[in-house]
Amino acid sequence: MIIAPSLLAANFGRFAHETVRAHRAKADWLHLDIMDGHFVPNISFGPEGVRVVRPLTRMKFDVHLMCSKPEILIERFAEAGADHIIVHVELEDRVTQLLWKIRSLGLQVGLAVNPPTGISNVLPYLDQIDQLLIMTVNPGFGGQPFIHEVVPKIQQAFAWREEKALPYRIEVDGGINFATAAECARAGADTFVSGTALFGQRQLGKAVQKMRDIVRKEARLRKHVKDIVS
Ligand code: DX5
Ligand code: ZN
Repeated sequence: MIIAPSLLAANFGRFAHETVRAHRAKADWLHLDIMDGHFVPNISFGPEGVRVVRPLTRMKFDVHLMCSKPEILIERFAEAGADHIIVHVELEDRVTQLLWKIRSLGLQVGLAVNPPTGISNVLPYLDQIDQLLIMTVNPGFGGQPFIHEVVPKIQQAFAWREEKALPYRIEVDGGINFATAAECARAGADTFVSGTALFGQRQLGKAVQKMRDIVRKEARLRKHVKDIVS
């Protein structure tokens, strides 16, 4: 189970401080949301924002590109210190090339799917990715409410992973708090991006551990139920 605080919810005036706070909180990864003002109606930060915080921690940097032209950015983010790069399946016929490009730079490969996009769109790529990012809000802004209708997609991604014996992580992003993290873990998610619900806590370390404990418990319960049924 991986807990990845999203820096989008941190105080932008104190980026370095907030990165160190996530590191000290023993978060597993740091999630970095890159918005280009075109793929989504908001702008966040660029490779320089990643580069300046890179020396502060050895946490894996999980870079989520909500960008219309990731092909011109992937190398920049790799140089800036990304460990994983996630692109969107909504880019359609460019996806294969983008995944290949990320892999060729030696990084972990992620594919994201927006709430209105059918989960079957990711099927052709499942054997090429390390992470499937299921968006649980429409991307662009932190602090939005979780869209419960997305949960069956998590169940489907989990079923495909079992069926095909593939290793990809099932990551959820958007509106993840203690309650919705539990709901996603029950459905099969194993990687939890959380911005507002984590960075909003005074004691980030306690909050990260609490979320980890909750999702571990749900995963154990799911396995237990599965063992009884089979
Ligand atoms: C949404 C971003 C998310 C965002 C999540 O566009 O992809 O990573 O930071 O933030 P919360 O947890 O506040 O919904
Ligand atoms: Zn994200």
